[in-house]
Amino acid sequence: MKASAKAHTNIALIKYWGKRDESLILPMNNSLSLTLDGFYTTTTVDFRESLTEDSFFLNNQPVSGVEYERVTSFLDLIREYAGKPNFFAEVHSTNYVPTAAGFASSASGFAALATAAAKSLGLKVSDEELSILTRQGSGSACRSIYGGFVEWEKGDMSDGSDSYAIQVAPANHWDIRVAAVVLSSSAKKVLSREGMKRTVDTSAYYSSWVESIPDDLSNIKEGIKNRDFARVGEIAEANCLRMHATTLAANPPFTYWHDTTLAVMQTVQELRDNGVLAYFTIDAGPNVKVLYLPENEETIQSTLREIPGVDDVIASRAGQGVSYI
Ligand code: DP6
Repeated sequence: MKASAKAHTNIALIKYWGKRDESLILPMNNSLSLTLDGFYTTTTVDFRESLTEDSFFLNNQPVSGVEYERVTSFLDLIREYAGKPNFFAEVHSTNYVPTAAGFASSASGFAALATAAAKSLGLKVSDEELSILTRQGSGSACRSIYGGFVEWEKGDMSDGSDSYAIQVAPANHWDIRVAAVVLSSSAKKVLSREGMKRTVDTSAYYSSWVESIPDDLSNIKEGIKNRDFARVGEIAEANCLRMHATTLAANPPFTYWHDTTLAVMQTVQELRDNGVLAYFTIDAGPNVKVLYLPENEETIQSTLREIPGVDDVIASRAGQGVSYI
């Protein structure tokens, strides 16, 4: 049976940074994100008994190598879960996540793949089960099952059965905007998977990172509930800086920041000094995401575009969870 799904990407306000189990993708800490309307992936999965191997097409191009392996190992998991080990699939994905925007397309990609694959195999799964399955493709993807503000509970069990995402507030709870600031030079040297592993294994600051999470989480959830933008922004920005500090204390040390990354961070702080509330957050790459409220849309866009080294600014609103198409 053929099934198609759409999933949006998400931006973490409290970061997932470090695994306690690499094969099951179990995180060291809870994380919290906002699902974004502007960036998404659509995927069609067709499981057929007549096929002898999986095939994967991304934006109409056949994919091989590491990317293909990641998709087929994930399909293995779904096949096993459905008790249909001999079914193979043809998978077609289209990314509406500009690679240059520095969003991990793996979040929307694995959420759409899991949703379409489960339906194609006739599995009746709850959102919780879908989030657990998706997590095993890419950690941050398990949050994209839901719209709005989403928390990924790290869980305590060693089999991962209590490590899944839950919705904290729906997209229509609060109109927060996110601008993806695209830098001209954005080659990523250390992949997030590798970077978080090196940090867990060697960073002198890693334990302080983990210890700081519970307070950040309860404060940001309170801020979201009360639609307190300054509170949410301050916590998200500080959490991001703390995550990036762990990489500087790793061995060998590394950073995702470029000179323009710092220029954008400084501009955001200057905007605040001038009374325009805006906050930044940065994932495992040099691009910056800026949080702001709708009334400041024009000021934010024009100010960020003027920074030398900034190529583009792409704005997004809060988005919905996965859907079938
Ligand atoms: C910095 O979810 O891409 O964006 O689980 O290894 O696939 P894997 O990693 P991934 O890591 C995302 C890290 C982050 C923070 C976040 O999204 O929470």
